Order: sequence, then structure tokens, then C-alpha cells
Amino acid sequence: MDLIVYQIYPRSFCDSNGDGIGDICGIISKLDYLARLGVNAVWLCPCYKSPMIDNGYDVADYRSVAAEYGTLSDLKRLIDELHKRDMKLIMDLVPNHTSDEHEWFKQSRKSRDNPYSDYYYWVDSPPNGWQSMFEGSAWEYDGVRGQYYLHSYAAEQPDLNWDNPRVVAEMQAVVDYGVDLGVDGFRIDVIDQISKDFEGNRNCFGPRLHEYINALFGREKTRHVFTVGECWCDDIDEIKRHCAESRHELVTLFQFDHLMAGSADKWHSADNSPLRRIRDILIKWQNLTAKNDLIYSIFTDNHDNNFYLSRVGDSKNYRCESAMLIAAMFYLLKGVPFIYQGQEFGSVGSQFADIGDFRDVESVNYYNNRVGTVSHERLMEQINFGSRDNVRRPVAWNGGRYCGFSTAKPWIAPPSRAHEINLAADIASDKSVFRFYCRLINLRKSSDAIRYGDFRSLSGNGDDYFVYERVLGAERYTVVCNFDSVSQIEIPRGELILSNYNRSQSDKSDFRPYETAVYRG
Ligand code: GLC
Ligand code: CA
Repeated sequence: MDLIVYQIYPRSFCDSNGDGIGDICGIISKLDYLARLGVNAVWLCPCYKSPMIDNGYDVADYRSVAAEYGTLSDLKRLIDELHKRDMKLIMDLVPNHTSDEHEWFKQSRKSRDNPYSDYYYWVDSPPNGWQSMFEGSAWEYDGVRGQYYLHSYAAEQPDLNWDNPRVVAEMQAVVDYGVDLGVDGFRIDVIDQISKDFEGNRNCFGPRLHEYINALFGREKTRHVFTVGECWCDDIDEIKRHCAESRHELVTLFQFDHLMAGSADKWHSADNSPLRRIRDILIKWQNLTAKNDLIYSIFTDNHDNNFYLSRVGDSKNYRCESAMLIAAMFYLLKGVPFIYQGQEFGSVGSQFADIGDFRDVESVNYYNNRVGTVSHERLMEQINFGSRDNVRRPVAWNGGRYCGFSTAKPWIAPPSRAHEINLAADIASDKSVFRFYCRLINLRKSSDAIRYGDFRSLSGNGDDYFVYERVLGAERYTVVCNFDSVSQIEIPRGELILSNYNRSQSDKSDFRPYETAVYRG
């Protein structure tokens, strides 16, 4: 797999028309930057028409673009401009729920016997105690219809009833519409939830899950598209049922074990440095995916978690070093890399004292439901640590007013360290994280061993570092990733081709905190 994907959160990437909101023309204006970084695909988070309760993950019309992001012709131009640069477009597909402003839901709530009445889950009384991911019961009473409907996320995001064949057909048509537009792939939102396991009392992994995914992507028209599912699953047999080539379901799915290792839970940090645990998780999945002929998704950041650097690196004393260490540790593994906007120049989480600086429905609900019982300071500490807004603040292109994102006040406050951590400052620095990413990507693109070679770990459980090899025929790379202490590491040394500490070829001294080096041969 040759893809190297860059994830864009449209609201926060680049504002082209000075309304403080990122948009599609803003994205187009940065495509040469992405080409310079070396990525060859963009995953675009939802940019469909939406009341933006969950920033677009509440879709009101799968076939039109949100007015604040542009028009359908802007989207077509984006596809053309990407294709001109040999880059692919991966669209976010949200099949589990719609917005309550989607026409289907507006019709559905009207009565129990209209053509759309069974597009959602309606019940006279909640059959279980399922909770919404965004706080409170997942069952909401609707006064118009006089029944409860299911919403796994916000109340304004009703879950679609896939057991209704009409819903399956509607969603197939949505996928086909994207394919006809020229979209090259889909990232599928919470795919495991489209079939509910009512009997087993789980609102995911229901008995018809595979049938539904196959209905979307196993057809003649859709078999060639790239697909990556957001699927909270670490059972290898289940993953094989999704991703084995013969099944025509998904190409790959995101594995979240390593992501969660950076926190005790969503709102609290891990007690001590999680890098050792992360190494073991990576080794486990590199071996499992190789053994089962599966494709691993390599990522450290996305739009749903604070920057990995803030959670597993040292964003105060060794920000650039640990950013590069994490990058080398992940992006020379076997699989498909995904890079989240801002990560490539060492962005970190923010610190704010006021809940008014937050926009995310998840964070705001979390605060509102606890304020009064937990102190404001305590809550802000948790929210600053865990809020999804950390990664949804405007990309800091430079140190200017509104950080080069917009000429107007952005919809959400820029990162609190934007004056210091921004792309322009990074590029001007001799410890540029961006340049390190460019080199890693370049290495990946130029080496079959990195893309397709075997993986072998050379470090043991007790070690305070991760050393691994990538080998294909006579081509061999050794990647050294030292964690937070000083380590003596004995390794076969070929030619030194990458270092985040200006280490020289002849230097055999101990590895310093967060030092990484790559040797060839
Ligand atoms: C996924 C998305 C997240 C969204 C949720 C509901 O987890 O990544 O951003 O809030 O689904 O669509
Ligand atoms: Ca705009």
C-alpha cells in the first residue's frame, strides 16, 4: 500500500474568505504545501451540509456541501486539484446517524406510518439503558411522534436503522454519489455501530454488520475504493472478517490500543511514560497484521484526541525531539500512515482557564454535567487534557494575528502556544519537525523495504527503547527510538541516514532522551 494520508479537519485548516471558518478553497490553497510534505492522499472530515452540532458528523444532506465550507463545485475543484498532483481524496462517510435536520428524520418523526417511519429506531419506551457517547441516555423522547429514538451520540444525531433495507439502499446511493464525483476512498465513521446487538446489549457489532459493510463496498462499483473503518475492535478474528481481501468489506481499520495508552482515560493522563507500553502494542500489531496478511493503519493523532505529543511525549522540555521520536517510531512501520493536520510541525495541546474557549459538544456537556460537584479548576484541567478542541483549534501557519489561519477572529480560539509553535517558526528552526517529517516520508516513498519489508523488533520488554528492523531482500533499515532516559544501545550500524540530534556516523555514544536514528544496511 503506497498511500500516505493527511487528515484535514475543514473547519480548522485554512480560511480563504475571512469569515473565521476554514473552507474548501482554503484547503486548495494549501495543496502545494501538502505536496511539499510528500503525502499523496487527503482524508477530509465531513464537509456536508450540517447544523454543526458535532462539527459536521451530524449530516443534514449527504449530497451537498456546508455553505460555510463552500459549494459542490469547490469540492469538485478540490478533487481535480488533488488529482492533478497525483493525490487521492478520502471522504468521511457517516453512515451510523444523520442530523435531526436531515429530511429523513424530519419525515420520520412526523408519524408512525410514513414512508420514512422506520429509517430510525423508534420505541415506546427505552428497551435498555444504553448511554450516549456525549453524556446521558441514548434514548430521547420526541414529542412530535410521541416515541423515543436512539442516538448513540448527541440527541441531534439520531441513529439510522440499517435493518430497514431502504436505509441500506439510501446509503449505497450516497457512496455511489461520492464515487461518481471522483472520490477515491472513504473513512467510515463508527462503522461497527451500524448493526446493533440488541440481544447482547451492545449498540455495535450486531449480527448483520458484515452484510451491511459488504453491501456498501463489496459491489462492482465500489470494490476498487480505499476504505478505512473507524471500528473499536482488537479481536484479530473479527478484524480478519472485516479486512481479509476476499471479503470485500474494508481495506483496513483504525486500531486504537496505542492511542488510549497515552491516557488513563479520556480526561486524565497516564501515570507514567506510556512509551514502553506503546512499543509493545506496536510490536503486537505489526506481527499480527503480518501473520494474517492484513494492512495496519499507522497513526498517532486524529480529530478526537488531544495531540499525542502532549500525551506521550515531553511537550515542555523536549518538544521537537519527542515529536520526531514519535514520528520515526510510527511512520517507518509497515502499513498505511495517517498524519493529522498540525502534527507535522510539532503542535501540542492548549491551556485555557475558561470553558467559554471550548466549542466541542463532548467537552461542554462534560463540564456542564459536573460543574458544582467538581471544582472549576479541576474540570478545566481535565478538559484541557482531554478535549477534542485541542486538535480542532486553527492550524497555526505562522505567529501572526489569528496565526495565519484567517484574517478574522476564528470560530474557536487559536492554540494557546501558537505564537511559539507554528509552521513558519518550525521551518525557520534548526530543529524543524516539519523537515523531519519530509525526510521520513521521502524515505518511505523511496524504499520498498519500508513500505513492504518485514518487521522485526530488536528490543525486549525491559528495554527503555524500541529498536526495529525493516528488511526486504538485501535492503535493511534499523530504526532506533530511545525513550525518556539515556540508553546504551548496541546495534548493528550501517550508514546513518536520519537523526533528530545531529548525531554523526562515527558517534557511538549513548542515546539521549527521545533520540531517534535510522541506519541503512
Ligand atoms: C466518530 C468521530 C467523532 C464523532 C463521532 C460521531 O467517533 O470520529 O468525531 O463525534 O464519531 O459521529
Ligand atoms: Ca471561510
